[in-house]
Amino acid sequence: MSAEIIDGKALACSMRKEIAEEIKKLSLQPGLAVVMVGDDPSSAIYVRNKEKACEEVGIKSYTYKLPENTPQSEVEDLVKKLVNDAGINGILVQLPLPKHLDVEKILSLIPPEKDVDGFSAQNVGKMFLGEQSLYACTPHGIIKLIKYAGVDIAGKHAVVVGRSNIVGKPVAALLLAENATVTICHSKTQNLKEITSQADILVVAIGKPHFITADMIKEGATVIDVGTNRVDGKLLGDVDFENAKEVAGNITPVPGGVGPMTITMLMYNTLTACKRANG
Ligand code: GUN
Repeated sequence: MSAEIIDGKALACSMRKEIAEEIKKLSLQPGLAVVMVGDDPSSAIYVRNKEKACEEVGIKSYTYKLPENTPQSEVEDLVKKLVNDAGINGILVQLPLPKHLDVEKILSLIPPEKDVDGFSAQNVGKMFLGEQSLYACTPHGIIKLIKYAGVDIAGKHAVVVGRSNIVGKPVAALLLAENATVTICHSKTQNLKEITSQADILVVAIGKPHFITADMIKEGATVIDVGTNRVDGKLLGDVDFENAKEVAGNITPVPGGVGPMTITMLMYNTLTACKRANG
């Protein structure tokens, strides 16, 4: 039997409506600043999509596009200016940055209350401790998608393939907070197929097109594909969707699964940051 497709676009759309409703009721407009250095084509698309989402929900967006060769001090000065601007509730520095820039130094200037990416050590630490923080957008969106699919996470074996700081590690922490039994697999994992085949919930974030094949998936599993690999102009996930959907119980498509939720959670974080900043 073919799997249910988890429609990330539909969930993103309904969440954005709720966010827009809440923003309408506020006495001030939340502000999101996006800093982009250079003209990486993928980054340009992401930034445009963030601007569109801001328009859709009523967040004022400020985009700063700096040339590729901008010196470290100028990027730092801009971020510091945004930190001190009370009209800016969230600051996002689009990654990757050009190689001559010190990413850690730049990101460290963003205080946790304006870190809407949820990348800072404080926000990540608080998330691991189960305390209130701004959660990283993709992991948080994944939890929303699993719940939207009607899957009860508690007690399930969740296998995360990939251990990046942006997706793998934080999504494992959030699944654990939802009482899943969590296994993290990575490039050095032995007998990967043996482990993925035991997953009730399989989250794949490794950046390798169609790496997870149908024979690696347990019958009826929930499969979340975080991959966005551009191959010959086509966007491919990390999961071989066409064959995997004949085995899985629920599965996210690429595009239209995790992607729309990442930006939606950014809108959610910006609204949350604005509410916290204004009591
Ligand atoms: N580049 C690709 N995805 C992201 C993201 O979620 N946040 C930032 N800051 N940069 C990215």
